[in-house]
Amino acid sequence: MHSYSLIAPAKINLYLEIIGNRADGYHELAMILQSIGLADQIDLRSISIDSIRVHCNHPQVPTDKSNLAYRAAELMARQFPEAFAKYGGVEITVNKQIPVAAGLAGGSTNAAAVLVGINLLWKLGLTQSELEELGSTLGSDVPFCVAGGTAIATGRGEQLSPLPSLDNIYVVLGKYRSLEVSTAWAYKTYREQFGNSYIRDSDNLVARANAVHSGTIVKAVLDKDVGGIAQKLHNDLERVVLPAYPQVLQLREVFANKEGVLGTMMSGSGPTVFALFESQQQAELVLLQVREAILDQDLELFVTRTITHGIKVASSV
Ligand code: C5P
Repeated sequence: MHSYSLIAPAKINLYLEIIGNRADGYHELAMILQSIGLADQIDLRSISIDSIRVHCNHPQVPTDKSNLAYRAAELMARQFPEAFAKYGGVEITVNKQIPVAAGLAGGSTNAAAVLVGINLLWKLGLTQSELEELGSTLGSDVPFCVAGGTAIATGRGEQLSPLPSLDNIYVVLGKYRSLEVSTAWAYKTYREQFGNSYIRDSDNLVARANAVHSGTIVKAVLDKDVGGIAQKLHNDLERVVLPAYPQVLQLREVFANKEGVLGTMMSGSGPTVFALFESQQQAELVLLQVREAILDQDLELFVTRTITHGIKVASSV
Protein backbone atom coordinates (compact mmCIF):
# COMPACT_ATOMS: atom_id res chain seq x y z
CA MET A 1 0.00 0.00 0.00
CA HIS A 2 1.26 3.48 -0.89
CA SER A 3 -1.39 5.56 0.80
CA TYR A 4 -3.75 5.40 3.75
CA SER A 5 -6.76 7.48 4.67
CA LEU A 6 -7.40 7.63 8.44
CA ILE A 7 -10.21 8.89 10.63
CA ALA A 8 -8.91 10.91 13.60
CA PRO A 9 -11.67 11.53 16.19
CA ALA A 10 -11.79 14.40 18.69
CA LYS A 11 -12.19 13.81 22.45
CA ILE A 12 -14.05 15.43 25.30
CA ASN A 13 -13.14 15.30 28.99
CA LEU A 14 -15.95 13.94 31.15
CA TYR A 15 -13.73 14.56 34.18
CA LEU A 16 -10.53 16.57 34.71
CA GLU A 17 -9.02 16.91 38.16
CA ILE A 18 -5.70 18.67 38.76
CA ILE A 19 -3.97 16.94 41.63
CA GLY A 20 -0.52 18.49 41.92
CA ASN A 21 2.83 19.33 40.36
CA ARG A 22 5.12 16.83 38.69
CA ALA A 23 8.90 16.85 38.70
CA ASP A 24 8.84 17.30 34.87
CA GLY A 25 6.99 20.63 35.21
CA TYR A 26 3.62 19.20 34.12
CA HIS A 27 0.58 18.55 36.31
CA GLU A 28 -0.48 15.27 37.83
CA LEU A 29 -4.01 14.70 36.52
CA ALA A 30 -6.95 12.35 36.94
CA MET A 31 -9.24 12.43 33.90
CA ILE A 32 -11.91 10.51 32.07
CA LEU A 33 -11.52 10.92 28.31
CA GLN A 34 -14.15 10.10 25.71
CA SER A 35 -13.85 9.87 21.90
CA ILE A 36 -16.56 11.56 19.85
CA GLY A 37 -17.69 11.24 16.24
CA LEU A 38 -16.45 14.67 15.17
CA ALA A 39 -13.24 13.80 13.33
CA ASP A 40 -10.54 14.98 10.95
CA GLN A 41 -9.47 12.92 7.94
CA ILE A 42 -5.75 12.34 7.52
CA ASP A 43 -4.40 11.13 4.18
CA LEU A 44 -0.85 9.76 4.15
CA ARG A 45 1.11 9.04 0.99
CA SER A 46 4.68 7.90 0.38
CA ILE A 47 6.62 10.35 -1.80
CA SER A 48 9.87 9.72 -3.61
CA ILE A 49 11.79 12.63 -2.01
CA ASP A 50 13.00 12.16 1.57
CA SER A 51 11.01 14.97 3.18
CA ILE A 52 7.81 15.48 5.16
CA ARG A 53 5.09 17.64 3.66
CA VAL A 54 1.89 18.78 5.36
CA HIS A 55 -1.17 20.27 3.64
CA CYS A 56 -4.30 21.42 5.44
CA ASN A 57 -7.64 22.87 4.31
CA HIS A 58 -7.79 25.09 7.43
CA PRO A 59 -5.93 28.43 7.05
CA GLN A 60 -5.02 28.66 10.77
CA VAL A 61 -3.29 25.29 10.88
CA PRO A 62 0.48 25.56 10.34
CA THR A 63 2.11 23.15 7.90
CA ASP A 64 5.65 23.44 9.29
CA LYS A 65 7.36 21.82 12.29
CA SER A 66 5.01 23.56 14.70
CA ASN A 67 2.28 21.17 13.49
CA LEU A 68 2.14 18.10 15.77
CA ALA A 69 1.35 15.87 12.76
CA TYR A 70 4.62 17.00 11.16
CA ARG A 71 6.48 16.27 14.41
CA ALA A 72 4.89 12.80 14.56
CA ALA A 73 6.25 11.99 11.08
CA GLU A 74 9.64 13.42 12.04
CA LEU A 75 9.68 11.23 15.17
CA MET A 76 8.95 8.11 13.08
CA ALA A 77 11.70 9.03 10.58
CA ARG A 78 14.15 9.46 13.49
CA GLN A 79 13.11 6.24 15.23
CA PHE A 80 13.08 4.13 12.05
CA PRO A 81 15.75 5.58 9.72
CA GLU A 82 15.99 2.39 7.63
CA ALA A 83 12.27 2.40 6.85
CA PHE A 84 12.43 6.13 6.10
CA ALA A 85 15.30 5.48 3.67
CA LYS A 86 13.45 2.55 2.09
CA TYR A 87 9.98 4.08 1.70
CA GLY A 88 10.94 7.73 1.22
CA GLY A 89 9.17 10.78 2.59
CA VAL A 90 5.54 11.25 3.57
CA GLU A 91 2.89 13.65 2.36
CA ILE A 92 0.26 14.37 5.02
CA THR A 93 -3.06 15.95 4.04
CA VAL A 94 -5.25 17.07 6.92
CA ASN A 95 -8.93 17.63 6.23
CA LYS A 96 -9.79 19.60 9.35
CA GLN A 97 -13.28 19.39 10.81
CA ILE A 98 -12.33 19.61 14.52
CA PRO A 99 -12.08 23.22 15.76
CA VAL A 100 -8.51 24.37 16.45
CA ALA A 101 -7.19 25.18 20.00
CA ALA A 102 -10.56 24.10 21.32
CA GLY A 103 -9.87 21.58 24.11
CA LEU A 104 -10.88 18.73 21.78
CA ALA A 105 -7.37 17.28 21.14
CA GLY A 106 -7.52 18.20 17.44
CA GLY A 107 -3.73 18.47 17.07
CA SER A 108 -3.08 15.37 19.20
CA THR A 109 -5.45 13.19 17.19
CA ASN A 110 -3.77 14.26 13.92
CA ALA A 111 -0.40 13.24 15.40
CA ALA A 112 -1.88 9.92 16.57
CA ALA A 113 -3.19 9.27 13.03
CA VAL A 114 0.25 9.94 11.55
CA LEU A 115 1.84 7.42 13.96
CA VAL A 116 -0.77 4.76 13.15
CA GLY A 117 -0.58 5.50 9.41
CA ILE A 118 3.21 5.47 9.11
CA ASN A 119 3.31 2.21 11.09
CA LEU A 120 1.17 0.74 8.28
CA LEU A 121 2.84 2.58 5.38
CA TRP A 122 6.31 1.42 6.46
CA LYS A 123 5.12 -2.05 7.60
CA LEU A 124 6.75 -1.54 11.01
CA GLY A 125 4.43 -3.89 12.91
CA LEU A 126 4.36 -1.74 16.07
CA THR A 127 1.73 -2.66 18.66
CA GLN A 128 -0.87 -0.18 19.91
CA SER A 129 0.98 0.22 23.21
CA GLU A 130 4.26 0.91 21.36
CA LEU A 131 2.47 3.58 19.30
CA GLU A 132 0.98 5.06 22.50
CA GLU A 133 4.44 5.19 24.07
CA LEU A 134 5.86 7.03 21.04
CA GLY A 135 2.81 9.31 21.14
CA SER A 136 3.40 10.26 24.78
CA THR A 137 6.66 11.98 23.75
CA LEU A 138 4.65 14.27 21.43
CA GLY A 139 1.84 15.30 23.78
CA SER A 140 -0.09 14.15 26.83
CA ASP A 141 -3.33 13.41 24.91
CA VAL A 142 -1.73 11.56 21.96
CA PRO A 143 -1.77 8.07 23.58
CA PHE A 144 -5.50 8.36 24.28
CA CYS A 145 -6.13 9.53 20.72
CA VAL A 146 -4.40 6.38 19.41
CA ALA A 147 -6.53 4.12 21.64
CA GLY A 148 -9.82 6.05 21.77
CA GLY A 149 -13.10 4.93 23.32
CA THR A 150 -13.55 5.72 27.01
CA ALA A 151 -10.62 5.69 29.45
CA ILE A 152 -9.30 6.92 32.77
CA ALA A 153 -6.10 8.90 32.16
CA THR A 154 -3.65 9.67 34.96
CA GLY A 155 -0.04 10.90 35.22
CA ARG A 156 0.34 13.66 32.60
CA GLY A 157 -2.71 12.15 30.93
CA GLU A 158 -0.71 9.45 29.14
CA GLN A 159 -1.35 6.54 31.55
CA LEU A 160 -4.54 4.92 30.33
CA SER A 161 -6.99 2.46 31.90
CA PRO A 162 -9.71 1.58 29.41
CA LEU A 163 -13.34 1.70 30.57
CA PRO A 164 -16.30 -0.05 28.94
CA SER A 165 -17.23 1.94 25.85
CA LEU A 166 -20.03 4.49 25.87
CA ASP A 167 -21.66 4.65 22.45
CA ASN A 168 -25.12 5.86 23.39
CA ILE A 169 -24.63 9.49 24.41
CA TYR A 170 -25.42 12.38 22.05
CA VAL A 171 -23.28 15.48 22.34
CA VAL A 172 -23.71 19.09 21.25
CA LEU A 173 -20.49 21.11 21.06
CA GLY A 174 -20.34 24.90 21.06
CA LYS A 175 -17.18 26.80 20.14
CA TYR A 176 -16.63 30.46 19.21
CA ARG A 177 -14.60 30.36 15.98
CA SER A 178 -12.36 33.27 16.89
CA LEU A 179 -11.75 32.18 20.49
CA GLU A 180 -8.70 30.03 21.16
CA VAL A 181 -7.34 29.03 24.57
CA SER A 182 -3.73 27.95 25.04
CA THR A 183 -3.52 24.79 27.14
CA ALA A 184 -0.18 25.93 28.58
CA TRP A 185 -1.78 29.26 29.63
CA ALA A 186 -4.72 27.50 31.31
CA TYR A 187 -2.49 25.19 33.39
CA LYS A 188 -0.03 27.98 34.25
CA THR A 189 -2.86 30.27 35.40
CA TYR A 190 -4.39 27.45 37.44
CA ARG A 191 -1.04 26.87 39.15
CA GLU A 192 -0.69 30.59 39.92
CA GLN A 193 -4.17 30.80 41.43
CA PHE A 194 -4.66 27.41 43.07
CA GLY A 195 -1.14 25.93 43.34
CA ASN A 196 -1.09 26.42 47.10
CA SER A 197 -3.86 23.82 47.45
CA TYR A 198 -1.96 21.13 45.47
CA ILE A 199 -1.15 17.85 47.18
CA ARG A 200 2.61 17.86 47.79
CA ASP A 201 3.28 14.51 49.38
CA SER A 202 4.03 11.99 46.60
CA ASP A 203 2.20 9.06 48.31
CA ASN A 204 -0.95 11.15 48.65
CA LEU A 205 -0.57 12.28 45.05
CA VAL A 206 -0.66 8.68 43.83
CA ALA A 207 -3.49 7.77 46.23
CA ARG A 208 -5.60 10.68 44.95
CA ALA A 209 -4.96 9.74 41.30
CA ASN A 210 -5.92 6.13 42.07
CA ALA A 211 -9.09 7.26 43.87
CA VAL A 212 -10.63 8.24 40.53
CA HIS A 213 -10.91 4.52 39.68
CA SER A 214 -13.43 4.04 42.50
CA GLY A 215 -15.10 7.46 42.13
CA THR A 216 -18.80 8.00 41.46
CA ILE A 217 -18.41 9.06 37.81
CA VAL A 218 -16.45 5.89 36.98
CA LYS A 219 -19.19 3.87 38.69
CA ALA A 220 -21.75 5.66 36.48
CA VAL A 221 -19.66 4.82 33.37
CA LEU A 222 -19.45 1.16 34.44
CA ASP A 223 -23.24 1.14 34.98
CA LYS A 224 -23.77 2.95 31.62
CA ASP A 225 -25.82 5.43 33.66
CA VAL A 226 -25.85 8.43 31.31
CA GLY A 227 -27.77 10.65 33.76
CA GLY A 228 -25.29 9.77 36.54
CA ILE A 229 -22.31 10.57 34.28
CA ALA A 230 -23.85 13.89 33.28
CA GLN A 231 -24.43 14.90 36.92
CA LYS A 232 -20.83 14.16 37.88
CA LEU A 233 -19.08 16.03 35.03
CA HIS A 234 -16.16 18.01 36.44
CA ASN A 235 -13.33 20.13 35.05
CA ASP A 236 -10.96 22.06 37.35
CA LEU A 237 -9.79 24.24 34.42
CA GLU A 238 -13.22 25.88 34.31
CA ARG A 239 -12.09 27.78 37.42
CA VAL A 240 -9.60 29.80 35.35
CA VAL A 241 -11.01 29.73 31.82
CA LEU A 242 -14.64 30.71 32.56
CA PRO A 243 -13.78 33.93 34.47
CA ALA A 244 -11.32 34.93 31.71
CA TYR A 245 -13.79 34.23 28.86
CA PRO A 246 -17.30 35.47 29.83
CA GLN A 247 -18.69 34.33 26.44
CA VAL A 248 -17.81 30.74 27.31
CA LEU A 249 -19.46 31.05 30.73
CA GLN A 250 -22.58 32.48 29.07
CA LEU A 251 -22.68 29.62 26.53
CA ARG A 252 -22.41 27.10 29.38
CA GLU A 253 -25.28 28.83 31.20
CA VAL A 254 -27.46 28.82 28.08
CA PHE A 255 -26.89 25.05 27.69
CA ALA A 256 -27.52 24.43 31.42
CA ASN A 257 -30.98 26.01 31.25
CA LYS A 258 -32.26 24.02 28.26
CA GLU A 259 -34.65 21.14 28.69
CA GLY A 260 -33.21 17.78 27.68
CA VAL A 261 -29.63 18.70 28.64
CA LEU A 262 -28.40 16.01 31.05
CA GLY A 263 -25.22 17.90 31.90
CA THR A 264 -22.89 20.52 30.43
CA MET A 265 -19.22 21.39 30.87
CA MET A 266 -16.15 22.86 29.18
CA SER A 267 -13.87 20.30 27.50
CA GLY A 268 -10.17 20.21 28.46
CA SER A 269 -8.67 23.68 28.54
CA GLY A 270 -11.61 24.99 26.48
CA PRO A 271 -13.08 27.05 25.09
CA THR A 272 -15.44 24.36 23.69
CA VAL A 273 -18.50 23.71 25.84
CA PHE A 274 -20.37 20.43 25.44
CA ALA A 275 -23.78 19.19 26.55
CA LEU A 276 -24.92 15.57 26.85
CA PHE A 277 -28.25 14.11 25.69
CA GLU A 278 -30.09 10.80 25.64
CA SER A 279 -31.33 11.21 22.04
CA GLN A 280 -30.22 12.77 18.77
CA GLN A 281 -33.60 14.49 18.47
CA GLN A 282 -33.13 16.30 21.83
CA ALA A 283 -29.57 17.24 20.86
CA GLU A 284 -30.69 18.72 17.52
CA LEU A 285 -33.53 20.63 19.17
CA VAL A 286 -31.25 22.19 21.77
CA LEU A 287 -28.72 23.12 19.07
CA LEU A 288 -31.46 25.15 17.34
CA GLN A 289 -32.54 26.74 20.65
CA VAL A 290 -28.95 27.77 21.46
CA ARG A 291 -28.57 29.18 17.95
CA GLU A 292 -31.69 31.32 18.59
CA ALA A 293 -30.56 32.37 22.08
CA ILE A 294 -27.06 33.46 20.96
CA LEU A 295 -27.30 35.38 17.70
CA ASP A 296 -23.57 35.38 16.97
CA GLN A 297 -22.29 33.97 13.68
CA ASP A 298 -18.94 33.35 15.38
CA LEU A 299 -20.52 30.53 17.41
CA GLU A 300 -20.09 27.12 15.76
CA LEU A 301 -22.37 24.31 16.95
CA PHE A 302 -22.06 20.59 16.18
CA VAL A 303 -24.14 17.52 16.99
CA THR A 304 -22.15 14.34 17.45
CA ARG A 305 -22.11 11.25 19.66
CA THR A 306 -19.75 9.25 21.79
CA ILE A 307 -17.87 6.56 19.87
CA THR A 308 -15.88 3.47 20.81
CA HIS A 309 -12.70 3.85 18.77
CA GLY A 310 -9.62 5.99 18.28
CA ILE A 311 -7.69 6.19 14.99
CA LYS A 312 -9.29 4.08 12.29
CA VAL A 313 -8.25 3.27 8.73
CA ALA A 314 -10.94 4.45 6.29
CA SER A 315 -9.26 3.22 3.09
CA SER A 316 -5.91 2.25 1.59
CA VAL A 317 -4.52 2.12 -1.94
O1 C5P B 1 1.26 17.62 26.68
P1 C5P B 1 0.82 18.82 25.91
O2 C5P B 1 1.88 19.37 25.01
O3 C5P B 1 -0.48 18.62 25.21
O4 C5P B 1 0.53 19.94 27.00
C1 C5P B 1 0.40 21.30 26.68
C2 C5P B 1 0.73 22.14 27.89
O5 C5P B 1 -0.26 21.94 28.92
C3 C5P B 1 2.04 21.78 28.55
O6 C5P B 1 3.09 22.51 28.00
C4 C5P B 1 1.81 22.16 29.99
O7 C5P B 1 2.03 23.56 30.15
C5 C5P B 1 0.33 21.91 30.20
N1 C5P B 1 0.07 20.58 30.84
C6 C5P B 1 0.31 20.40 32.19
N2 C5P B 1 0.09 19.18 32.75
C7 C5P B 1 -0.37 18.15 32.02
C8 C5P B 1 -0.65 18.31 30.64
C9 C5P B 1 -0.41 19.55 30.07
O8 C5P B 1 0.73 21.33 32.89
N3 C5P B 1 -0.58 16.98 32.61
